[in-house]
Amino acid sequence: MRAITDVLTGLVSAAFEKQGYSPELGAVSVSDRMDLCQFQCNGAFAAAKLYHKAPFIVAGEVAAVLAENPVFAKAEVVKPGFLNLTLADDFLLSLMRDIAADENLGVPQAEKPETIIIDYGGPNVAKPLHIGHLRSAIIGESIKRLARATGRRVYGDIHMGDWGLQIGLVIAELASRHPDWPCFDPDFPQGGEVPELNVDLLSEVYPAASKRSKEEPEFKAAAQAATFELQRGRSGYMALWREIMRVSVADLKANYARLGVDFDLWYGESDADRYEPKLLDILTSKGLLVESEGAKVVEVTQDDDKAPMPPVIIKKSDNSSIYATTDLSTIIQRQEDFDPDRIWYVVDKRQSLHFTQVFRCARKAGLVREECELEFLGFGTMNGSDGHAYKTRDGGVMRLSDLLDAAESAAAEKLAASEFTQGANLSDTARKVGIAAVKFGDLINHRSKDYVFDMDKFLSFEGKTGTYLLYSVTRINSILRRAGLDDGAPMAAQRVYTDAERELMLTILLSGEAFVRAFDEKAPNYICESAYDLAVAFSRFYHDNHILSETDGAKRSAWLGLCALTRRLLIKHLDVLGIEAVESM
Ligand code: ARG
Repeated sequence: MRAITDVLTGLVSAAFEKQGYSPELGAVSVSDRMDLCQFQCNGAFAAAKLYHKAPFIVAGEVAAVLAENPVFAKAEVVKPGFLNLTLADDFLLSLMRDIAADENLGVPQAEKPETIIIDYGGPNVAKPLHIGHLRSAIIGESIKRLARATGRRVYGDIHMGDWGLQIGLVIAELASRHPDWPCFDPDFPQGGEVPELNVDLLSEVYPAASKRSKEEPEFKAAAQAATFELQRGRSGYMALWREIMRVSVADLKANYARLGVDFDLWYGESDADRYEPKLLDILTSKGLLVESEGAKVVEVTQDDDKAPMPPVIIKKSDNSSIYATTDLSTIIQRQEDFDPDRIWYVVDKRQSLHFTQVFRCARKAGLVREECELEFLGFGTMNGSDGHAYKTRDGGVMRLSDLLDAAESAAAEKLAASEFTQGANLSDTARKVGIAAVKFGDLINHRSKDYVFDMDKFLSFEGKTGTYLLYSVTRINSILRRAGLDDGAPMAAQRVYTDAERELMLTILLSGEAFVRAFDEKAPNYICESAYDLAVAFSRFYHDNHILSETDGAKRSAWLGLCALTRRLLIKHLDVLGIEAVESM
């Protein structure tokens, strides 16, 4: 289906044209005064300038055409020249039936099938997943689902940090603890066995190694050397690296599964390695690679730069590759494998400079098609109540699994104490409510903003919270269950009976616009707002209309049909947010 404002713009444009004006004047938007009208068009003001006529006259001529059209209940002109539009109930009802019958529930689909790669998650292997990576996972997953829901082909790529110094640190630490392990022997055979590792060990080894490297320069040098030799393919280190990867990836998968986050591509920086020679060839043949203080760099300044723009370092003076090198090589890989229309990076906004440099270099080198959009979707910090980055009680970096445990037990406590909770499967419900609270609490903020993590607020049954939305779905479930319609009810309405009902229909209709806007702005917060609007409109509808006790059969089934449609649409919103609904609460 098309977005309703598109449909109306078509009708109003035709009316302008019919009266001898340019059709481009017919843009329709959602009214900002819903008490006066549902939609509006302000094109008469521009027409007045172009055609030297009073806007009121132009709007009147256009309104006269629209008044003939059964789509509108009202097409009114308000001084000095606003065109206020309200849909006829019959048209609204037919749209509700169309939405209910549409496999996409009225969400407008992309006209041309695009391929999008979303780079998110970005965990660093061998380090435990910490809450710094939470936002990337939550936001990236939602943007991926949003792009899919609007008809794009999307690949989510986790892009693990699996090739850098952190691995060298772990190798060096293990080498100093267990010099007898055969994998540290320079003659370790290809395919030889290494001791089995586990997550607990890794999560102890990495911080210890990181601390040591700050205190002991020789240890730091050993870790750097290990990183370099790993990247050169030393067989014992490669074998150990594979074991570290096996353990880390299993742990990552378990953590992401808990969050309802999953990736199509489990690539890492290490996978970019194969493309590095090609990157160097391209940069060299285009004369972009220059020597600077022993390093090989690419200049990426532009004439309009307001701040200094450092060159991208491709090879350091010790000939090792760094973050930008792997990101550029990865772009080559993505271009070869997917020929994408867009590549989006959901990464902490403090990495903005890095991505500006990488994108400029990629463009200069022609690594992607010119039309391919490279975009950095930076996100802000999740803060504690003190306004500083969220920490554990003792000031350390919090592990993601600990945060999720805490959210789930807070949800369990809340549900146990709540008057709303009845006979639900508490532990499963608490798990879903806890995760929903955390995710919605994040996604309701525009991604670029910092926000305060406040579990109590996120778990509130009122306001813009995941808890309220899950509760809203369970309320509809219970109405339908009591009506004996667990599986839903068709949109049977023949007329609109009450204002609250009409308002709910309009909110349903406008949710399609929210998906379009959220996609265009790459901002899932619009889906959160739309879901909240739906829940609030439903609540008013439910309050004003006594659905189950209604004795007029036609009215009752009309309302039940609307309940069922609202439920499906709410669940669709939640799904795009990566939130699982619960049956009852
Ligand atoms: N591993 C990186 C970090 O923890 C994030 C990776 C983001 N993605 C990318 N293509 N650079 O900071």
